[in-house]
Amino acid sequence: MRSLLHFLAFALILKISAHAEKISESLECHEKVADVVFVLDSSVSLRETDYDAQLDFVKMLVDTFAVGPKNIRVGMMTFGTDMRLDFNLKEHQNKEGLKAAISRTSYLGDRQGTNTGEALQYARTKMFEKENGGRDNAAKVIILITDGYSHNLDKTLWEASMAHSDGIEVFAIGVGGMDDRELRGVGSEPKDKHVFRVDNYKALPHIQKALEHRTCELPHNDQSKPGPSVKPDTGCGGKPADVYFIVDSSSSIWKPDFHKQLDFIKEVIGQFDLGQDSTRVGVITFSDGIHPIIPLSGSQSRQYLEEQIEKIPYTGGGTNTGGAIRYLTDHGFSAAIARPEVAHVAILMTDGQSKNLTNTYLQSRRAHKAGIYLFAIGIGQFVDTLELNDIASNPDKDFVFQVDDYTALTSIKELLAIKTCQVPQKFMKDQPSSCSIDTATDVMFVLDSGAIGRRHSHMIEHLIADVVREMESEHHVTRAGIIRESCSQTPDIGLSQYDNAHAFKRHLKSVEHKGLQPLIQKLRRYSFKSRYGGRKSSQKIAVIFVDDILDNPGPTILEARRAKSTNIRVIVVATGNHYDEKQLEQLVTSPASRNIVHVDHYKNIGEAKGRLLYSMCAGR
Ligand SMILES: *[C@@H]1O[C@H](CO)[C@@H](O)[C@H](O)[C@H]1NC(C)=O
Repeated sequence: MRSLLHFLAFALILKISAHAEKISESLECHEKVADVVFVLDSSVSLRETDYDAQLDFVKMLVDTFAVGPKNIRVGMMTFGTDMRLDFNLKEHQNKEGLKAAISRTSYLGDRQGTNTGEALQYARTKMFEKENGGRDNAAKVIILITDGYSHNLDKTLWEASMAHSDGIEVFAIGVGGMDDRELRGVGSEPKDKHVFRVDNYKALPHIQKALEHRTCELPHNDQSKPGPSVKPDTGCGGKPADVYFIVDSSSSIWKPDFHKQLDFIKEVIGQFDLGQDSTRVGVITFSDGIHPIIPLSGSQSRQYLEEQIEKIPYTGGGTNTGGAIRYLTDHGFSAAIARPEVAHVAILMTDGQSKNLTNTYLQSRRAHKAGIYLFAIGIGQFVDTLELNDIASNPDKDFVFQVDDYTALTSIKELLAIKTCQVPQKFMKDQPSSCSIDTATDVMFVLDSGAIGRRHSHMIEHLIADVVREMESEHHVTRAGIIRESCSQTPDIGLSQYDNAHAFKRHLKSVEHKGLQPLIQKLRRYSFKSRYGGRKSSQKIAVIFVDDILDNPGPTILEARRAKSTNIRVIVVATGNHYDEKQLEQLVTSPASRNIVHVDHYKNIGEAKGRLLYSMCAGR
């Protein structure tokens, strides 16, 4: 109810101010160049009448846009478990056609789940493509309307942050009792301009004004701007990467099938921008031995590369998968050969079990740790799925592919190319080598054990130990410390201080819990100073654990802000559901979606490890 009133008030304010600015604003709006994609929830949590209300809302909003081929283009997709493309940006470029198309959309119904993450991924990677009507010079906007919890919150938040870092402005509209955390993670910054909640679908029109206003004031991309963003729109859009194909050449593979693998490599490469400054490709084959056939190179022509691939000899022999991966880590991506600043990707194809599973597992882990993204493609029925999972980077579903036979390889070439391209856009650009070997990092973990309690503090300390172990590298570039409690916080009350009950009570009051504030202050004043082991050139990270609304919130947030202004990056691990998301957003370094790690319960705190490591690596 509160939120509904809030939006009514918001809409009203906009309405009033809109009077004054009406003319200039509508002019503004007409000059805007934007590609707007609606992503509508049609999951089972939604009834058909609600779906119609969604459509009405979209139509009303569209009515306020300057729709046209040169102004605002609109696309729409619907999701439940699966995705359905309703129409592309290029399909309807006048208002009437657009509204008619929206009306014609039918309810998807009888779906099981709310696959918000996948929907966002589809919207980001597909809907804005040039061939679908996306334009380089247009602002990209996603308007998500949903009423359900997504199936996979991590995936949803991850995809949302991918969209944000691709420069897409995302509006998140939650209907009914949605989880704020999810919506706030999805919407762009500033949250109060991008995240909306209404109590039911009938209330949607109340936020129309707010949205209309926002979508009109969007900046539009500068068309005249030259530079890397106007690379040819093939494959990775000019995102650089060093990519190896690792081909199984053992005896279990029939020779004609070996050649199908080679054809497949050519097809995948066909989707890359090859070049010294963009994607460079190498090929390694393995059987008992390891054969680096084509060195990593971007200077040869595509045709030359294809000829080289056709000539790759078939060797026969055992399946030394671990050895191949080891070679890749130690040599293929060594500093002398690969470019340290670009994505390191390897695509490994195999049709059988490796001869030493333990070694394959160990070598794969080493490769992952060295920041290599490993795709595993299993071909045929003799492939061990567990082994593929070991080889591939996480999450498995993004890095593991399985096909029935060699002919079917071609069916995954596009997906593989897309996924390969996603790696550099995200993982690598934001994850230089901070967690791998060369950037020095000083990390302080901060927990208020007094407030958190002994048992839970223990669990957190376990997690910290795990994280530190993971970060540790042979070069000792990571230093870690913990601040648990400031001793001076709660002085004892001596017998002599007892005067009367009233004074005693006042005394108790005066030692009110200050919460994290003194801890963060200590962190800022001392922890990263050189006499306490801090290093001048290192990146400074504070990881703060929170499981409740903040005690003493104002001063705590202020203290955090001071810490951030001294270049300390603040990350929060939030456990349970008693904390206040808004407070956390003020506490952390922005974007909040990347710097807040959520865990639903202390018993699952181990799950925070991966997300926390990623956050720490992901740069600011
Ligand atoms: C398999 O690999 C592991 C780890 O590298 C090694 O210790 C072990 O000796 C290998 N086993 C065989 C049979 O080669």
